[in-house]
Amino acid sequence: MSILQSLSITSIRNIQQAALKLSPGVNLLHGENGSGKTSVLESIHLLATGRSFRTSKPGTLISETEPSALVVAELSNGHQIGLTRSRRKGHQLNMDSEKQRNWDKVARELPVQVLDANSFLLLDGGPKARRRFLDWGAFHVEPLFVDQWRKTRKCIANRNLLLRKSSPDPDQLRAWDLQLCKASGAVDMARSNYFNCFVPIFDQVYESLSASSPNVLSLSYYRGWDGDQELSEVLRHSEITDKKYGATQCGPHRADLVVKAGSRLAIETLSRGQQKILVSALKIAQGVLLSQALDR
Ligand SMILES: Nc1ncnc2c1ncn2[C@@H]1O[C@H](COP(=O)(O)OP(=O)(O)OP(=O)(O)O)[C@@H](O)[C@H]1O
Ligand SMILES: [Mg+2]
Repeated sequence: MSILQSLSITSIRNIQQAALKLSPGVNLLHGENGSGKTSVLESIHLLATGRSFRTSKPGTLISETEPSALVVAELSNGHQIGLTRSRRKGHQLNMDSEKQRNWDKVARELPVQVLDANSFLLLDGGPKARRRFLDWGAFHVEPLFVDQWRKTRKCIANRNLLLRKSSPDPDQLRAWDLQLCKASGAVDMARSNYFNCFVPIFDQVYESLSASSPNVLSLSYYRGWDGDQELSEVLRHSEITDKKYGATQCGPHRADLVVKAGSRLAIETLSRGQQKILVSALKIAQGVLLSQALDR
């Protein structure tokens, strides 16, 4: 992990070309409405993750009259990262002139966190946003997580394909189950380790932000299947239902982070302002844990 030193943006939204030298501390962007402040942040997010936090359509952030956009960053540890995003040809990501197949290396160098209106999805959306939140932390802190996580995705996709056949081969199903259980165990372990480190930091951050709040918050981690059972057992028992739906009902792809205030879900009881504090505490705690874990 390192600090952004400079940023060059070409053809992102209304920014034709911008070159910014950044301070190692807090950087404040100011300007008229529509002048491009959020677009600068969007460019950093695009470079660090491959996605925008404003849109799921990558074409919309390329300037209207241009065929492609370019973002280049120099980091304090000397790395240079460049991303070209084109309307027709997808993207090309480079780190120190070396083409990157995925965002693994770049994301480790640039662990970005966004705190905006969409952050409320952590409370009022489905489990996907919370799983992504948990996985962001596990990715940065638990080195073995990402490979095992990819394996679970592959196993579940193949298992689901098989389940949709009129008569799935039981041996093939067992073979995928075996691999899925192995990878899921590692994913669950990484998530659960991360969660255990996260909770005390979150408690501290939340307390410091909400000194006068009477709400007692609790976080719990659900691994995606019954805590008392082995996944292999669960998969065997749910085979008929899985075949009926053509999809694996239990597993690490169903994990969740449950946030409660007292005995009820936080979203059902907290005011909007209290939710804002809670969401901010969740995001800040992730940053604190990351900097502690990486000693930066
Ligand atoms: N694809 C595009 N091509 C060209 N211009 C665009 C494109 N998409 C958006 N814009 C314009 O770029 C500007 C982007 O503004 P942005 O949201 O970054 O502004 P901002 O400084 O964050 O404003 P605010 O203070 O209102 O939040 C807007 O004026 C918008 O109309
Ligand atoms: Mg803005």
